[in-house]
Amino acid sequence: MKTLLVGYKAQDLFEADRRGERRPASWLEGDITCHTLDIYHCHAIENSSCGVKAVCSPHLPKDDWDLVKFKTGPKLMSGELSLDLLQEIHLLHPRRFELEFVGRERDRNDLLAKIKDDPDRVRDFSAVWPASVPGGQKLMLTSFPGCFCHRRVDDGGLALAEVVARELSDSTPFNSSALKPFSILDMGCGCGLVGFLVASSLSSSRQAPGTNAAAPHESTIRLVMVDSHARAVEAASLNAEKLGIPAEVILSDNGTPAQMDCSFDVFVGNPPYYSDYRIADIFLETAQRALKPGGVCYTVCKNADGLEPVQRRYFPEVEIIRRRGYAVLKSVKN
Ligand SMILES: C[S@@+](CC[C@H](N)C(=O)[O-])C[C@H]1O[C@@H](n2cnc3c(N)ncnc32)[C@H](O)[C@@H]1O
Repeated sequence: MKTLLVGYKAQDLFEADRRGERRPASWLEGDITCHTLDIYHCHAIENSSCGVKAVCSPHLPKDDWDLVKFKTGPKLMSGELSLDLLQEIHLLHPRRFELEFVGRERDRNDLLAKIKDDPDRVRDFSAVWPASVPGGQKLMLTSFPGCFCHRRVDDGGLALAEVVARELSDSTPFNSSALKPFSILDMGCGCGLVGFLVASSLSSSRQAPGTNAAAPHESTIRLVMVDSHARAVEAASLNAEKLGIPAEVILSDNGTPAQMDCSFDVFVGNPPYYSDYRIADIFLETAQRALKPGGVCYTVCKNADGLEPVQRRYFPEVEIIRRRGYAVLKSVKN
Protein backbone atom coordinates (compact mmCIF):
# COMPACT_ATOMS: atom_id res chain seq x y z
CA MET A 1 0.00 0.00 0.00
CA LYS A 2 1.45 3.37 -1.09
CA THR A 3 0.59 6.29 1.16
CA LEU A 4 1.31 9.99 0.75
CA LEU A 5 1.26 12.20 3.85
CA VAL A 6 0.64 15.91 3.29
CA GLY A 7 1.00 18.59 5.98
CA TYR A 8 2.67 16.25 8.50
CA LYS A 9 5.82 17.09 10.47
CA ALA A 10 8.39 14.76 12.08
CA GLN A 11 6.74 14.98 15.51
CA ASP A 12 3.40 13.79 14.03
CA LEU A 13 5.01 10.51 13.03
CA PHE A 14 5.79 9.42 16.58
CA GLU A 15 3.77 8.38 19.62
CA ALA A 16 4.61 7.38 23.18
CA ASP A 17 4.48 3.68 24.07
CA ARG A 18 3.10 2.35 27.39
CA ARG A 19 6.35 3.21 29.18
CA GLY A 20 6.21 6.74 27.75
CA GLU A 21 9.00 6.09 25.28
CA ARG A 22 8.88 7.65 21.83
CA ARG A 23 8.43 5.25 18.94
CA PRO A 24 7.18 5.51 15.31
CA ALA A 25 3.36 5.84 15.25
CA SER A 26 1.52 2.50 14.95
CA TRP A 27 -0.53 3.77 11.98
CA LEU A 28 2.64 4.07 9.83
CA GLU A 29 2.24 0.94 7.72
CA GLY A 30 3.44 0.10 4.21
CA ASP A 31 5.30 2.31 1.78
CA ILE A 32 4.91 5.85 3.14
CA THR A 33 6.14 9.12 1.68
CA CYS A 34 5.74 12.40 3.52
CA HIS A 35 5.61 15.56 1.43
CA THR A 36 6.97 18.79 2.91
CA LEU A 37 7.09 22.31 1.55
CA ASP A 38 10.04 23.30 3.74
CA ILE A 39 13.40 21.55 3.46
CA TYR A 40 13.85 21.96 7.24
CA HIS A 41 10.84 19.67 7.87
CA CYS A 42 12.09 17.26 5.21
CA HIS A 43 15.49 16.98 6.96
CA ALA A 44 13.75 16.53 10.34
CA ILE A 45 11.80 13.52 8.97
CA GLU A 46 14.90 12.04 7.31
CA ASN A 47 16.85 12.37 10.56
CA SER A 48 14.06 10.95 12.75
CA SER A 49 14.55 7.33 11.58
CA CYS A 50 10.80 6.64 11.53
CA GLY A 51 10.99 4.69 8.27
CA VAL A 52 9.04 7.28 6.29
CA LYS A 53 10.50 8.68 3.05
CA ALA A 54 10.53 12.48 2.89
CA VAL A 55 10.25 14.66 -0.19
CA CYS A 56 10.39 18.46 -0.38
CA SER A 57 8.87 20.06 -3.48
CA PRO A 58 6.58 22.98 -4.36
CA HIS A 59 3.86 20.55 -5.53
CA LEU A 60 2.72 17.09 -4.44
CA PRO A 61 4.57 14.18 -6.02
CA LYS A 62 2.58 12.48 -8.77
CA ASP A 63 2.22 8.73 -8.29
CA ASP A 64 -0.36 5.98 -8.07
CA TRP A 65 -1.27 6.64 -4.39
CA ASP A 66 -3.52 4.17 -2.56
CA LEU A 67 -4.07 6.65 0.25
CA VAL A 68 -3.42 10.35 0.74
CA LYS A 69 -3.66 11.66 4.32
CA PHE A 70 -3.82 15.45 4.72
CA LYS A 71 -3.25 17.21 8.04
CA THR A 72 -4.41 20.81 8.13
CA GLY A 73 -6.19 23.43 10.20
CA PRO A 74 -6.17 27.20 10.76
CA LYS A 75 -3.17 27.02 13.11
CA LEU A 76 -1.17 24.85 10.74
CA MET A 77 -1.50 26.68 7.43
CA SER A 78 -3.50 29.42 5.68
CA GLY A 79 -6.97 28.59 4.34
CA GLU A 80 -5.72 29.32 0.83
CA LEU A 81 -2.82 26.86 1.14
CA SER A 82 -5.25 24.24 2.50
CA LEU A 83 -7.49 24.72 -0.53
CA ASP A 84 -4.57 24.67 -2.95
CA LEU A 85 -3.26 21.39 -1.47
CA LEU A 86 -6.76 19.87 -1.43
CA GLN A 87 -7.00 20.69 -5.13
CA GLU A 88 -3.62 19.06 -5.80
CA ILE A 89 -4.71 15.97 -3.86
CA HIS A 90 -7.94 15.79 -5.85
CA LEU A 91 -5.95 15.96 -9.10
CA LEU A 92 -3.75 13.03 -7.96
CA HIS A 93 -6.88 10.78 -7.90
CA PRO A 94 -5.79 8.69 -4.89
CA ARG A 95 -7.82 5.55 -4.16
CA ARG A 96 -8.60 6.87 -0.68
CA PHE A 97 -8.39 10.23 1.07
CA GLU A 98 -8.31 11.02 4.81
CA LEU A 99 -8.44 14.48 6.32
CA GLU A 100 -6.98 15.10 9.78
CA PHE A 101 -8.39 18.52 10.62
CA VAL A 102 -6.94 20.29 13.65
CA GLY A 103 -9.51 22.87 14.71
CA ARG A 104 -13.22 23.46 15.03
CA GLU A 105 -15.75 21.28 13.21
CA ARG A 106 -17.24 24.47 11.74
CA ASP A 107 -13.91 25.45 10.11
CA ARG A 108 -13.49 21.92 8.76
CA ASN A 109 -16.94 22.06 7.17
CA ASP A 110 -16.25 25.54 5.74
CA LEU A 111 -13.09 24.25 4.09
CA LEU A 112 -14.79 21.23 2.55
CA ALA A 113 -17.81 23.30 1.46
CA LYS A 114 -15.51 25.45 -0.71
CA ILE A 115 -14.68 22.48 -2.94
CA LYS A 116 -17.85 20.40 -2.56
CA ASP A 117 -19.96 22.06 -5.26
CA ASP A 118 -17.43 21.91 -8.06
CA PRO A 119 -14.50 19.67 -7.10
CA ASP A 120 -13.19 19.49 -10.68
CA ARG A 121 -12.81 23.23 -11.11
CA VAL A 122 -9.07 23.95 -11.21
CA ARG A 123 -8.32 27.27 -9.54
CA ASP A 124 -5.15 29.32 -9.94
CA PHE A 125 -4.02 30.39 -6.47
CA SER A 126 -1.05 32.46 -7.64
CA ALA A 127 -1.08 36.24 -7.28
CA VAL A 128 0.76 39.04 -9.09
CA TRP A 129 1.30 42.33 -7.23
CA PRO A 130 3.44 45.47 -7.54
CA ALA A 131 6.37 46.55 -5.39
CA SER A 132 8.78 49.48 -5.69
CA VAL A 133 11.27 51.58 -3.75
CA PRO A 134 11.38 55.38 -4.09
CA GLY A 135 12.95 56.33 -7.41
CA GLY A 136 13.05 52.68 -8.54
CA GLN A 137 11.10 50.78 -11.16
CA LYS A 138 7.76 49.17 -10.30
CA LEU A 139 8.29 45.39 -10.23
CA MET A 140 5.41 42.94 -10.65
CA LEU A 141 6.04 39.94 -8.36
CA THR A 142 4.32 36.56 -8.47
CA SER A 143 3.64 34.59 -5.28
CA PHE A 144 1.97 31.31 -4.32
CA PRO A 145 0.09 30.16 -1.21
CA GLY A 146 2.59 29.07 1.44
CA CYS A 147 5.33 31.34 0.13
CA PHE A 148 6.13 34.54 2.01
CA CYS A 149 4.64 36.98 1.33
CA HIS A 150 1.61 35.96 -0.71
CA ARG A 151 -0.62 38.56 -2.44
CA ARG A 152 0.93 41.60 -0.73
CA VAL A 153 4.12 43.45 0.08
CA ASP A 154 5.50 42.76 3.55
CA ASP A 155 6.21 46.09 5.27
CA GLY A 156 9.33 44.73 7.00
CA GLY A 157 10.76 43.48 3.71
CA LEU A 158 9.89 46.74 1.99
CA ALA A 159 11.52 48.80 4.78
CA LEU A 160 14.68 46.69 4.37
CA ALA A 161 14.70 47.08 0.56
CA GLU A 162 14.16 50.85 0.82
CA VAL A 163 17.00 51.36 3.30
CA VAL A 164 19.47 49.16 1.38
CA ALA A 165 18.56 50.65 -2.02
CA ARG A 166 18.99 54.19 -0.66
CA GLU A 167 22.31 53.38 1.04
CA LEU A 168 23.74 51.69 -2.05
CA SER A 169 22.67 54.41 -4.45
CA ASP A 170 24.17 57.06 -2.10
CA SER A 171 27.45 55.18 -1.82
CA THR A 172 29.97 55.95 -4.56
CA PRO A 173 31.89 52.62 -4.54
CA PHE A 174 28.63 50.73 -5.15
CA ASN A 175 26.87 52.92 -7.68
CA SER A 176 30.01 53.96 -9.56
CA SER A 177 29.80 53.53 -13.29
CA ALA A 178 33.33 52.08 -13.03
CA LEU A 179 31.06 49.02 -12.57
CA LYS A 180 33.08 46.72 -10.39
CA PRO A 181 31.22 43.41 -10.06
CA PHE A 182 28.86 43.56 -7.11
CA SER A 183 27.21 40.67 -5.30
CA ILE A 184 24.09 40.50 -3.14
CA LEU A 185 22.94 37.60 -0.97
CA ASP A 186 19.20 37.62 -0.09
CA MET A 187 18.63 34.99 2.60
CA GLY A 188 15.04 33.92 3.32
CA CYS A 189 14.19 35.54 0.00
CA GLY A 190 10.52 34.46 -0.11
CA CYS A 191 9.28 35.37 -3.57
CA GLY A 192 12.30 37.70 -3.92
CA LEU A 193 10.89 41.07 -2.81
CA VAL A 194 14.05 42.47 -1.21
CA GLY A 195 16.69 41.05 -3.55
CA PHE A 196 14.89 42.08 -6.76
CA LEU A 197 14.08 45.61 -5.51
CA VAL A 198 17.68 46.19 -4.40
CA ALA A 199 19.23 44.70 -7.56
CA SER A 200 16.87 46.62 -9.82
CA SER A 201 17.46 49.93 -8.06
CA LEU A 202 21.23 49.42 -8.01
CA SER A 203 21.15 48.51 -11.67
CA SER A 204 19.37 51.82 -12.48
CA SER A 205 21.79 53.89 -10.39
CA ARG A 206 24.81 52.23 -12.05
CA GLN A 207 23.41 52.76 -15.51
CA ALA A 208 25.52 55.04 -17.70
CA PRO A 209 23.38 57.83 -19.27
CA GLY A 210 21.65 56.70 -22.46
CA THR A 211 22.25 52.96 -21.95
CA ASN A 212 19.84 50.11 -21.34
CA ALA A 213 19.38 49.30 -17.62
CA ALA A 214 19.37 45.55 -18.21
CA ALA A 215 22.73 45.36 -19.93
CA PRO A 216 25.12 46.62 -17.19
CA HIS A 217 23.07 44.79 -14.57
CA GLU A 218 23.58 41.44 -16.18
CA SER A 219 27.32 41.83 -16.39
CA THR A 220 28.06 43.39 -13.00
CA ILE A 221 25.48 42.42 -10.38
CA ARG A 222 25.35 38.89 -8.99
CA LEU A 223 22.21 38.09 -7.03
CA VAL A 224 22.00 34.90 -4.96
CA MET A 225 18.75 34.02 -3.17
CA VAL A 226 18.25 31.33 -0.54
CA ASP A 227 15.08 30.01 1.06
CA SER A 228 14.11 26.84 2.91
CA HIS A 229 10.59 26.82 1.39
CA ALA A 230 10.11 25.07 -1.95
CA ARG A 231 7.33 27.45 -3.04
CA ALA A 232 9.48 30.50 -2.22
CA VAL A 233 12.23 29.07 -4.42
CA GLU A 234 9.69 28.37 -7.16
CA ALA A 235 8.32 31.93 -6.97
CA ALA A 236 11.76 33.61 -6.80
CA SER A 237 12.98 31.59 -9.81
CA LEU A 238 9.86 32.50 -11.78
CA ASN A 239 10.19 36.19 -10.82
CA ALA A 240 13.86 36.26 -11.87
CA GLU A 241 12.81 35.00 -15.29
CA LYS A 242 9.81 37.31 -15.64
CA LEU A 243 11.69 40.41 -14.45
CA GLY A 244 14.79 39.62 -16.51
CA ILE A 245 16.98 39.89 -13.39
CA PRO A 246 19.38 36.94 -13.33
CA ALA A 247 19.50 35.20 -9.94
CA GLU A 248 20.87 31.96 -8.53
CA VAL A 249 18.07 30.61 -6.34
CA ILE A 250 19.00 27.95 -3.76
CA LEU A 251 16.77 25.72 -1.60
CA SER A 252 18.55 25.45 1.78
CA ASP A 253 17.82 25.71 5.51
CA ASN A 254 21.48 26.04 6.35
CA GLY A 255 22.74 29.08 4.47
CA THR A 256 24.95 29.15 1.40
CA PRO A 257 27.43 26.44 0.38
CA ALA A 258 31.00 26.82 1.69
CA GLN A 259 32.35 27.71 -1.77
CA MET A 260 30.37 30.99 -1.55
CA ASP A 261 32.15 32.07 1.66
CA CYS A 262 33.65 35.60 1.62
CA SER A 263 32.15 36.38 -1.78
CA PHE A 264 29.30 38.89 -1.15
CA ASP A 265 29.33 42.69 -0.87
CA VAL A 266 25.87 42.90 0.71
CA PHE A 267 23.69 40.52 2.75
CA VAL A 268 19.96 41.19 3.20
CA GLY A 269 17.69 39.15 5.47
CA ASN A 270 14.19 39.48 6.90
CA PRO A 271 14.29 36.38 9.11
CA PRO A 272 11.28 34.84 10.84
CA TYR A 273 11.41 35.51 14.60
CA TYR A 274 9.73 32.42 16.01
CA SER A 275 11.77 29.75 17.78
CA ASP A 276 13.59 32.22 20.00
CA TYR A 277 15.75 33.78 17.23
CA ARG A 278 17.25 30.38 16.31
CA ILE A 279 16.57 31.06 12.61
CA ALA A 280 17.82 34.66 12.84
CA ASP A 281 21.01 33.14 14.25
CA ILE A 282 21.39 30.89 11.16
CA PHE A 283 20.87 33.96 8.94
CA LEU A 284 23.53 35.97 10.78
CA GLU A 285 26.02 33.11 10.91
CA THR A 286 25.60 32.84 7.12
CA ALA A 287 26.03 36.62 6.71
CA GLN A 288 29.29 36.56 8.67
CA ARG A 289 30.62 33.65 6.60
CA ALA A 290 29.35 34.79 3.21
CA LEU A 291 30.34 38.47 3.28
CA LYS A 292 33.71 39.74 2.04
CA PRO A 293 35.70 41.78 4.58
CA GLY A 294 34.10 45.25 4.37
CA GLY A 295 30.81 43.72 3.17
CA VAL A 296 27.61 44.98 4.78
CA CYS A 297 24.91 42.97 6.55
CA TYR A 298 21.35 44.36 6.77
CA THR A 299 18.56 42.64 8.69
CA VAL A 300 15.11 43.89 9.66
CA CYS A 301 12.70 43.36 12.54
CA LYS A 302 9.81 45.12 14.23
CA ASN A 303 11.67 45.67 17.47
CA ALA A 304 15.48 45.75 17.53
CA ASP A 305 15.76 44.66 21.20
CA GLY A 306 15.54 40.93 20.42
CA LEU A 307 17.61 40.85 17.23
CA GLU A 308 20.40 43.25 18.15
CA PRO A 309 22.12 40.92 20.67
CA VAL A 310 21.98 38.09 18.11
CA GLN A 311 23.53 40.30 15.42
CA ARG A 312 26.25 41.43 17.89
CA ARG A 313 27.32 37.78 18.32
CA TYR A 314 28.53 37.91 14.71
CA PHE A 315 29.27 41.62 14.15
CA PRO A 316 30.74 43.90 16.84
CA GLU A 317 28.97 47.07 15.66
CA VAL A 318 25.24 47.37 14.92
CA GLU A 319 23.68 50.58 13.61
CA ILE A 320 19.88 50.87 13.78
CA ILE A 321 18.03 52.65 10.97
CA ARG A 322 14.26 53.23 11.50
CA ARG A 323 11.85 52.91 8.60
CA ARG A 324 8.09 52.26 8.33
CA GLY A 325 7.88 51.36 12.03
CA TYR A 326 10.62 48.72 11.57
CA ALA A 327 14.27 48.65 12.60
CA VAL A 328 16.90 47.86 9.97
CA LEU A 329 20.10 46.61 11.63
CA LYS A 330 23.29 47.38 9.71
CA SER A 331 26.73 45.89 10.41
CA VAL A 332 30.00 45.86 8.51
CA LYS A 333 32.21 42.75 8.44
CA ASN A 334 35.77 43.44 9.65
C1 LIG B 1 9.76 36.94 6.95
S1 LIG B 1 9.96 35.98 5.51
C2 LIG B 1 10.81 37.13 4.44
C3 LIG B 1 10.58 36.94 2.96
C4 LIG B 1 11.12 38.05 2.08
N1 LIG B 1 12.53 38.23 2.26
C5 LIG B 1 10.39 39.34 2.37
O1 LIG B 1 10.95 40.18 3.06
O2 LIG B 1 9.25 39.50 1.89
C6 LIG B 1 11.22 34.86 6.01
C7 LIG B 1 11.63 33.84 4.97
O3 LIG B 1 12.69 33.04 5.53
C8 LIG B 1 12.52 31.71 5.09
N2 LIG B 1 13.27 30.83 6.01
C9 LIG B 1 12.91 30.34 7.23
N3 LIG B 1 13.90 29.61 7.73
C10 LIG B 1 14.90 29.61 6.84
C11 LIG B 1 16.20 29.02 6.80
N4 LIG B 1 16.67 28.27 7.79
N5 LIG B 1 16.97 29.25 5.71
C12 LIG B 1 16.51 30.01 4.68
N6 LIG B 1 15.29 30.59 4.67
C13 LIG B 1 14.51 30.40 5.73
C14 LIG B 1 11.02 31.50 5.08
O4 LIG B 1 10.65 30.42 4.24
C15 LIG B 1 10.54 32.87 4.55
O5 LIG B 1 10.45 32.86 3.15
